[in-house]
Amino acid sequence: NLTSLEQQTEHSTITKKENHTVSEKVYIFDTTLRDAEQTPGAALNLGEKLEIAKHLAKLKVDIIEAGFPVSSPGDFDAVTRISNEVEGPEICALSRVIEKDITAAWGAIKDARKPRIHTFVGTSPIHRERITRTSPEETLQMAIDAVTYAKSLSAGHPGAAIEFSPMDAGRTELSYLYEVVEATIAAGATIVNIPETVGWTVPSEFGKLIADIKANVPNIDRAIISVHCHNDLGLAVANSLVAIENGARQVECTMNGLGERAGNTSLEEVVMAIRTRRDYFSDYYTDINTKEIVPISRRVSRTMGIPVQPNKAIVGANAFAHSSGIHQDGIIKQRNTFEIIDPADVGWQESQIILSPRSGRNALRHRLGALGYEVTPEQIEKIYARFLEVADKKKEVHDADLEAIMRDEVRSI
Ligand code: KIV
Ligand code: ZN
Repeated sequence: NLTSLEQQTEHSTITKKENHTVSEKVYIFDTTLRDAEQTPGAALNLGEKLEIAKHLAKLKVDIIEAGFPVSSPGDFDAVTRISNEVEGPEICALSRVIEKDITAAWGAIKDARKPRIHTFVGTSPIHRERITRTSPEETLQMAIDAVTYAKSLSAGHPGAAIEFSPMDAGRTELSYLYEVVEATIAAGATIVNIPETVGWTVPSEFGKLIADIKANVPNIDRAIISVHCHNDLGLAVANSLVAIENGARQVECTMNGLGERAGNTSLEEVVMAIRTRRDYFSDYYTDINTKEIVPISRRVSRTMGIPVQPNKAIVGANAFAHSSGIHQDGIIKQRNTFEIIDPADVGWQESQIILSPRSGRNALRHRLGALGYEVTPEQIEKIYARFLEVADKKKEVHDADLEAIMRDEVRSI
């Protein structure tokens, strides 16, 4: 049985994907506990990390990047506990292309059922020249050696995987990027992540970059292409979606889009774009249990002490709140006039009609009905006039205000 919203999209004029046959899974790699934890002031203790990791497993993310074990004994312990106690997702640990980092990463995750070492090095000219101070050849060799070492450490574990990231890929010379990706796949990486570390590229460029990698790296089909987009120009979600259309099958993202500087790709936005626009993204799906989105968004916000902006898509307090009379009237008549997602699908209880001076009689009658008042057409005119007097004095009219208006109304009969 199609909902009316699905019927609407069924008949959508978008035909781009009409010849698709099978849908492919897009793996959701959550880095809330690593990249988002790098947000200023967001550091978590071990218990908080463990609780978020368990909730991420309920959300059914495919991979949890649990931390950067070499960075501190506390992070090592947290990644170890998550590896031992959280079931379901792969557990990933980050490392630079440095032996002691990789040893620490493996030490923390080796007991997980599905451990993943994620090793990275900056490959762009500016990162090579200013950070590692290495030539292109030296950088390439460091990447190969790191993947080779990670593979040797994890060789005896049947569920282990190696991911490699050429950091700042968006500003790396194209032919050099192909060479690094090819060489790290040959050394044993089965996931190659293309980080848009500084959010530099725009969607058409980033989509082309992924298509070019697919077309020009000979053994690319031996690996999953992943993307990791930062949001410095507000393009992280758009870049991730266009990357999927061009061959990426893993998206690295965080709850509430938190992360270094302006943050990362927001998990809830990318997942809900694929799900809501299934007419357009019919070739792809994720396994995310979307009803857990709002509960975990709140948990992350509360635990990290970072409020969610009210107009944030999907999880902001206003994402399903309707304030103007025309919108409220539409929603009351049929929800999808002004809502493209059922709030219950992402864990909200229901849409909200905010009563304000811009609300109309229909919204007022609707709310009074919910409070148990049946009002006649004659009564509503009088009550509405009284409502506007109150509404003009306040930004929002609450149920208690309506009860007071109705008490007066009943007394005056
Ligand atoms: O932004 C970035 O490039 C990263 C890497 C470690 C993947 O976070
Ligand atoms: Zn990052």
